[in-house]
Amino acid sequence: MKVVKNIAVLRHHVALWREKKASVGLTPTMGFLHEGHESLMRRAVNENDRVVVSIFVNPAQFGPSEDLDRYPRDLEHDLERCEALGVDLVFCPEVEEMYPAGFQSMVAVSALSQGLCGKSRPTHFQGVCTVVSKFFNIVSPDRAYFGEKDAQQLAIIRRMAKDLDFTVEIVGCPIVREADGLAKSSRNKYLSPEERKAAPALNKALHAAGEAALSGIRDSRSLLRIVEESLAAEPLFRIDYVEIVDPLSLQPVEKIERGALLAAAAWLGATRLIDNRLL
Ligand code: PAJ
Repeated sequence: MKVVKNIAVLRHHVALWREKKASVGLTPTMGFLHEGHESLMRRAVNENDRVVVSIFVNPAQFGPSEDLDRYPRDLEHDLERCEALGVDLVFCPEVEEMYPAGFQSMVAVSALSQGLCGKSRPTHFQGVCTVVSKFFNIVSPDRAYFGEKDAQQLAIIRRMAKDLDFTVEIVGCPIVREADGLAKSSRNKYLSPEERKAAPALNKALHAAGEAALSGIRDSRSLLRIVEESLAAEPLFRIDYVEIVDPLSLQPVEKIERGALLAAAAWLGATRLIDNRLL
């Protein structure tokens, strides 16, 4: 497995693969890899001749008061996981390699970035889109793998790839959870033992609404109330948002007719958790 910090070197390796007509998959990550990331990487390895994993804590997607400085990192451990899964190349650039002096171009997907997480993180998605479009241009992958855990991010990247004529196929992968239902996340490391015990309540609340939808409740207001009431039973949680939206447009849905996305973000102490499920 190659470990590359330099864009030109990465391009060189990809060009050699392309000469041999190899297909290339890309899994972008911010590292501190867990089984959620691994499910994306595994799928990429299964579906492509060569796989690139990027590990880059992208400053452009963190707000000024967010956790950029304390975001968990463990490159050595990440490289072991990538190697064990059969990844061909890990791209782990320094910030200066991605954003050299004078950098000033940003990619924004406007309407989709405004609701849900965009309300409390107004510059987050343009940071994501900018770095992901750079990765697409640097690697030129045939397929790129993203988790449904970040449902808004996935919808935005699908839109961006279409709007900007990237030829990459965007592959969405299901949410990987802990045994108690908590969605795996690098940020779960921030939770105190008490918060970690409370954390599965978020998925439980979404699950309760999912069951209610299955039993025939179709109006969003009632379903949202079920989530809010269920989550209120866990006093450590403070809701940021709970919404039912169309999975592609991310616009609020009042009555569930076809599939709808139930998405939530909530604070546990200083840690913001997100989760979602399809209704
Ligand atoms: P990161 O949070 O490291 O996540 C990398 C990828 O793993 C994302 O596509 C995310 O949706 C997926 N993922 C994380 N937890 C998951 C889980 N429990 N189940 C399934 N997939 C999961 O998302 C980012 O990094 C960044 O925004 C990035 C796209 C790399 C751009 O910087």
